[in-house]
Amino acid sequence: MNNKRYTVTAALPYANGPLHLGHIAGCYLPSDIYVRYLKAKGADVAFVCGSDEHGAAITLRAKKENTTPQHIVDTNHRIIQKAFEDFGIDFDIYHRTSSPLHHETAAQFFKDLNEQGSFIQETSEQFFDEEHQQFLADRYVTGTCPKCSYDNAYGDQCEKCGSSLSPTDLINPKSTLSGKTPVLRETSHWYLPMNQHEGWLKTWIETGKLDNKQQHDPNDWRKQVIGQCKSWIDNGLQPRSITRDLNWGVKVPVDGADGKVLYVWFDAPIGYISATKQWAADNGKNWEDYWKDENTELIHFIGKDNIVFHCIIFPIILKEHGDYILPTNVPANEFLNLEGDKISTSRNWAVWLHEYLEDFPGKQDELRYVLTSIAPETKDSEFTWKDYQARINNELVAILGNFVNRSIVLTHKYFDGKIPENNNQEINISHRITYNQILVIKKKLEELLEEFKFKDALIEAMSLARLGNKFLADAEPWKLIKDDSKRDEVKTILNFSLQICANLAIAIQPFLPHTSRKLIDLLNLPDITWNDLGNVNLLQPGHQINPAELLFPKIEDEAIDAQIAKLEATKVKQSNPKAKPMKDEITFDDFTKMDIRVATITAAEKHPNADKLLKLTLDTGIDVRTVVSGIAEHYSPEEVIGKQVSVLVNLAPRKIRGIESQGMILMAENNEGNLAFVSPEKATDNGGEVR
Ligand code: 2FM
Ligand code: ZN
Repeated sequence: MNNKRYTVTAALPYANGPLHLGHIAGCYLPSDIYVRYLKAKGADVAFVCGSDEHGAAITLRAKKENTTPQHIVDTNHRIIQKAFEDFGIDFDIYHRTSSPLHHETAAQFFKDLNEQGSFIQETSEQFFDEEHQQFLADRYVTGTCPKCSYDNAYGDQCEKCGSSLSPTDLINPKSTLSGKTPVLRETSHWYLPMNQHEGWLKTWIETGKLDNKQQHDPNDWRKQVIGQCKSWIDNGLQPRSITRDLNWGVKVPVDGADGKVLYVWFDAPIGYISATKQWAADNGKNWEDYWKDENTELIHFIGKDNIVFHCIIFPIILKEHGDYILPTNVPANEFLNLEGDKISTSRNWAVWLHEYLEDFPGKQDELRYVLTSIAPETKDSEFTWKDYQARINNELVAILGNFVNRSIVLTHKYFDGKIPENNNQEINISHRITYNQILVIKKKLEELLEEFKFKDALIEAMSLARLGNKFLADAEPWKLIKDDSKRDEVKTILNFSLQICANLAIAIQPFLPHTSRKLIDLLNLPDITWNDLGNVNLLQPGHQINPAELLFPKIEDEAIDAQIAKLEATKVKQSNPKAKPMKDEITFDDFTKMDIRVATITAAEKHPNADKLLKLTLDTGIDVRTVVSGIAEHYSPEEVIGKQVSVLVNLAPRKIRGIESQGMILMAENNEGNLAFVSPEKATDNGGEVR
């Protein structure tokens, strides 16, 4: 019996789109396996999750789709919740951060910390869109990443290189509302002075000690998690603003803070607490037992992009509050790739969970099996449809399904579906060896599950099926049955095989709960718990079992080919997979603001101060002007003289290395970064409009 109490959280998914397999492999499936195991052992667990419904990503999406943020989150919350339910992620509660209880809880949390002086309030300059009269939080600004030069980076993060940024880091920042360059304006915000917490955080991460007590063993934490935390701490923690100028989110509960909400990453983790409160209220529990009792283990399941928030920022907030426990482990997973490429929602390079469930009805456990087998626990891993098919056909069908089916079919054939007697006196050496192996498997399986090594744990559970298969193949009851004097031996063999089947129902339950249920029904077993694992007298002689049914049908090529074709169709639309994603939509008016003309290059020379630049003289038909262009690595001055090109003539002049450039020549760039002029297809008049 495990009497311990656990609070297990799974990262709250953003309610701005559906779930894909990367999300599932990242944190929902591992947390579900862990919780099913804990509960099977009798532990007291609150398994909480919910939709993360705030933040600029959601308001932007609403704007793009010409609807309200509330509509976006309502729609996605429903889709996500249903997909989790249909797939069998068995949360105790799936809450939402737009609920009044959450708003209250997060606001109170902020108030408590604010009143005790845990924050600093500072005025700083932030981007402001003059046309829309609005401050631009995070994703409302895009520009070029200062780290990798990707030119569609967001104000809070570059999706290409993963760097976390602040809007003012961006080169050529643009407002996503007006498309214009924002201006800097003063605004006041609340900051969490993370720098003041470096000391205890470093000790806690490195040694597991908190307030001089051993809170956890750091060797139990994944190396990548500790590594990422150390690197953040070693780089020096900075005060982090925890409020935003936005009108969607939890209002800052302080007078005079109109138009300000809590930063989504401040309120989202508090969502775990409000979810627990709701669940406790619905189930006659005390939520504080799950968040404030030192004997409760708090475990956060997340993907690697969430490590800093769960191992540094949220712990600071919890500790600062004073009466909360901190996580004893944060088993973060790496990323899952798909068919040789990163999963990308914008490119639709994803397998969506709700679509999988429609295309493969009843095959939840098949997907659970494959995703656990390839779990990205220590490094990124890859899902391919061929591998999905192979693992199901060669492992689930051929090993697990086959063993169970043979045991049940033979029992019906020889003994009318009644559990035959096990003549103990006749238990031979092979039974004993097999029995000992079951006990070894149980021990290893428990150790691996408790160490969050679900991939290896699944191999261990499957080894019980392999063991059963081998036992049956070695014993050959189908041969012995032909000899009447061996009938008792056949009974003992099948009794033992069926006991292994019953044990399998327990061992696979955390991973394959639907299959475990089916197997329990086939064996007509009463309720069993984890503690029954290792007991080979679970089925009593004479007990009637149900007729055999296949646990897993084979996955045929057609089903796999159809999925591959569906993904390929996404690619076909993008003939050049390396092409950059489309920028945000602009209006026709935006387009007509650009005055692009045909011009002839009449003179060219190298820029005296820069190797990569040419100084060009252009006859634009309306004037003669100088343009500095970064094409010296692609064209010599002699080559370009006489060429007709397209020029943006109404671009504000700017000095480039000491020479004023009066416009910009349009160039096409290939995948390797080589440039070519965008020229009229036949000679035309200079000054002709390009439109
Ligand atoms: O990365 C994400 O999808 C976030 N919505 C996770 C939030 S986890 C928690 F803190 F709420
Ligand atoms: Zn970058």
